[in-house]
Amino acid sequence: MIYRFDEFELDDRAGELRREGVEVRMAPKPLALLTLLVRERDRVVGRREIFARLWPDVAVTDASLSKAVAAVRRALDDRERRVVRTFPRRGHRFCAAVVEGGTVTVGPTVPTIDPERTRLLGRGDEVRLMNGFLADALTGRGRLVMIDGGAGIGKTRLLQEAAKGARSQGIVPLSAWCWDTNTAPTCWPWVQLIRGYMERFKGRDAQPPPAVRRLLCAEREPDPFTANHASETEDRVRLLDATAQYLKAASHRQPLLLVLDDLQWADDLSLRVLQVVARVLEDAPLVVACAHRDPPSPGEKHTRIAGLRGLPQARRCSLSGLSRSATRECAEAVAGRTLPSAVDEAIWRRTQGHPLEIYEVVRALRDLGTWSAPAVRSVGGPRGAEGQIRGRLEG
Ligand SMILES: Nc1ncnc2c1ncn2[C@@H]1O[C@H](COP(=O)(O)OP(=O)(O)OP(=O)(O)O)[C@@H](O)[C@H]1O
Ligand SMILES: [Mg+2]
Repeated sequence: MIYRFDEFELDDRAGELRREGVEVRMAPKPLALLTLLVRERDRVVGRREIFARLWPDVAVTDASLSKAVAAVRRALDDRERRVVRTFPRRGHRFCAAVVEGGTVTVGPTVPTIDPERTRLLGRGDEVRLMNGFLADALTGRGRLVMIDGGAGIGKTRLLQEAAKGARSQGIVPLSAWCWDTNTAPTCWPWVQLIRGYMERFKGRDAQPPPAVRRLLCAEREPDPFTANHASETEDRVRLLDATAQYLKAASHRQPLLLVLDDLQWADDLSLRVLQVVARVLEDAPLVVACAHRDPPSPGEKHTRIAGLRGLPQARRCSLSGLSRSATRECAEAVAGRTLPSAVDEAIWRRTQGHPLEIYEVVRALRDLGTWSAPAVRSVGGPRGAEGQIRGRLEG
């Protein structure tokens, strides 16, 4: 059976989740969890039932389930937790509208993200810059793009647009995310990218050299270097070089866009790999596009990211709020109606073009069923949507 929701397709026979036709790689347990929740979407699936179905023969802790839920949300880009919802002390429910073999079976009351997700608005300059870099890469001049901005400003959305632009130019996008937990294996984003490449190009010289293969075992071996301190430095140098050369050679076979999101959570080794890859891409058909929230405070990570931005082949792309007109367009698209000027003005004052805040304010108005300027000012409580949303995302 194929289940379609938002821009995704879940093919339970093939055991595959696809986003706009491209496979989203998932570990077996999160994929099994997603499949279970989608099939049982007319109800909340209890934690005990999930344990019994996913881990029938082993006793696992709540942490395993939380990890699997987090992985599903990451795969669906469900940062606002609107698709996979948690019902405290009860369980989880899949809450997007699903099309199943041509029949629309709507989930519960919660609207999905997609019907109200607008086309990308107000980022013409950034998209042009990105497409220009992709075109440069096709002539063998690789680039590094460093996107930054606050939570919810649209970094991930811009990366998704870059991936679309890449596909349209015959460049294969591969994506990876850094996790906001310290449970992620060492160098996890690069492991994801290399695995993605190997899966996509099976049999086409995709096999990495031994030093890189060692990295791919990182899931089982949290730090592949601690085992042998004597050769640690040498190992690391070999690994950095081998990874960069492997990806460079891969891009010569097939131009690539490597996307690394949420770099603020990258481990140190991942940033070092990035530094080396950035140095070798200058004469390769390879674009690396990274996004990070502004690193919180000066420190090693801050210095590494600043150093990357300063490279001659790098371009920084700082995102701020949408323009006044794009804000209006976004609000009206989410509202699904034209808005009175006073409401539009109030939304602009309230959000200053911050996309996630526009979504939140408009949803709140829709839930209230009121489209007035005072309602815009009242939604979200005294701290206002901005503070609440940023607090929630950054806290
Ligand atoms: N230019 C835009 N036009 C329309 N919608 C947008 C735009 N930018 C962002 N959005 C929407 O706003 C929401 C937040 O965007 P996004 O997830 O890309 O933010 P982010 O900067 O990656 O946040 P975080 O730091 O939390 O990862 C998403 O629903 C996204 O689709
Ligand atoms: Mg993001």
